[in-house]
Amino acid sequence: MKILISDGMHESGLSMLRAARGVEVDAPDQPSADEIRKMLPDYDALVVRSRTKVTEDLLDRSGKLKVVGRAGTGVDNIDVQAASSRGILVMNTPGANAMAAAEHSLAMMFALARHIPQATQSMREGRWDKKLFTGTELYEQTLGIIGLGKIGSIVADRALCLKMEVIGYDPYIIPEAAAVMGVECVSLDELLERSDFITLHTPMTAETRNVIGREALRKVKPGVRIINCARGGLIDEDALCEALLEKRVAGAALDVFAQEPPTASPLLGLQNVIFTPHLGASSVQAQANVARTIASQILDYLQLGIIRNAVNFPSIRAKDYERIRPYMALAESLGRLQGQLFTPIQRIEIEYSGPEFQELPLQPLTQMVVKGLLEPVLGEKVNLVNAPILLKERQVELVTTTTSHSRGYTGLISVRVRGGDQEGAADGTVFQHDEVRLVRLNTYRLEAELEGVNLIIQNLDKPGVIGVIGTTLGRYQVNIANMHLSRTPDKDRAIAIIRIDDEAPAEALDDLLNHPNIISVQQVRL
Ligand code: NAD
Ligand code: MLT
Repeated sequence: MKILISDGMHESGLSMLRAARGVEVDAPDQPSADEIRKMLPDYDALVVRSRTKVTEDLLDRSGKLKVVGRAGTGVDNIDVQAASSRGILVMNTPGANAMAAAEHSLAMMFALARHIPQATQSMREGRWDKKLFTGTELYEQTLGIIGLGKIGSIVADRALCLKMEVIGYDPYIIPEAAAVMGVECVSLDELLERSDFITLHTPMTAETRNVIGREALRKVKPGVRIINCARGGLIDEDALCEALLEKRVAGAALDVFAQEPPTASPLLGLQNVIFTPHLGASSVQAQANVARTIASQILDYLQLGIIRNAVNFPSIRAKDYERIRPYMALAESLGRLQGQLFTPIQRIEIEYSGPEFQELPLQPLTQMVVKGLLEPVLGEKVNLVNAPILLKERQVELVTTTTSHSRGYTGLISVRVRGGDQEGAADGTVFQHDEVRLVRLNTYRLEAELEGVNLIIQNLDKPGVIGVIGTTLGRYQVNIANMHLSRTPDKDRAIAIIRIDDEAPAEALDDLLNHPNIISVQQVRL
């Protein structure tokens, strides 16, 4: 397996990757976009920070790439949609640099309040400007936090220790959760009107772009100070520039910019603005943390298939992994079975029954069913990440339900497929922790293994059919590994699921089908 690290990586993560068995790591020094494009087709994984832009164009050259790992939080330098439709997992390390970013925001707030960078500069220039740099205390000032996630909540906690009054705006956090943090939840307008300091901690989305824009800056408390260590596009820089010149905003501390580096920004010329070059996550501890975290996530995915912190696939917690693993295999086999028995499919209904599914994450199982279902049709093109996208493209409806009703099983997955006026149902379960079994196929109750090549033969329940099947397959040198039989409750029809060592030739299937008591013969690879 080959891993390309295109933006450098702290030694703690690099050594983990280099020590992994069967893994080859390349970490060229600051490769250009063109160099990355040329190298990429050879690699299974790409690890980036923010320098490499993982565009659709680059992903078109992805070859066998399975995963892009972002050693950091924001994935705005990665075209996640383009990666998903190519079946490439994108993972980040949320929280691994949160402490560094929170502390940097607080450092910026202190520096802004007490003019520390400007005073340093003035002393370097030989001055002793005591009066010029009179600052403001933070004590009993109101801090407005926009975005109360991992970083915003650490900032809130530390600001409360400074005896600031902390108010917050986050439409996705319930006021009770904010209250537990000691933060009063308010509307954005109220936050703008009341805050002496405003700090931004949201991701960059269509909704948050320019959240501090001209209109918001008209509503702020005069003399407010603004800190942004989240993402550049959250502030309209031209509008901020105007508000700073008009002294409506007393100062700003910026770590992030709409364009980085912000070479042409008029903000650079303003004395009441302080800057750092996107240093929020640049602490030794955070760099070691993100590097270790992404290295272990990448190895877990490439070597064990464990998915953590993927932004385009639901994560499976380590503690759930052993329990969910056999159900993932079951889900895929049921999907693959139905994908081969039934075509074309217009609607899929998946039901998860039993106590097992009250706790396990179901989305990965659903994606496994869909992957299994599409694989016989689309081949290697389909994987866990792009399966839902491909299903949507094919306009297949997908419905999932859960019930605690166990039907005698701790966990039963039922996959019902419909197309035209036809429908087919397959139920499966896991026995003894890892024995995957098909327990129902349409009206037949069974206990069949779901692996290898199988013939599924329906016949009239008359004597001698099994003998005919055995001699016909024998004539074509097809060896039977095992066989599961069942019949309908009224005993007029029967089914045989016959596992064979190698695929049976089409002539053997035709011979079987020509027998008057055999209704259907289908060969499936599970
Ligand atoms: P997070 O996902 O834990 O928290 C983000 C919060 O923003 C969530 O609580 C979410 O509900 C909230 N939010 C989303 N949309 C919102 C909206 N429209 N209005 C208000 N709140 C909204 O993320 P985090 O780890 O706390 O990171 C926050 C930001 O900091 C991200 O943009 C991240 O990229 C950035 N970051 C920057 C640096 C740096 O080096 N400067 C380092 C780490 C993270
Ligand atoms: C992040 O999103 O993690 C930060 O912006 C830091 C970085 O770019 O690495």
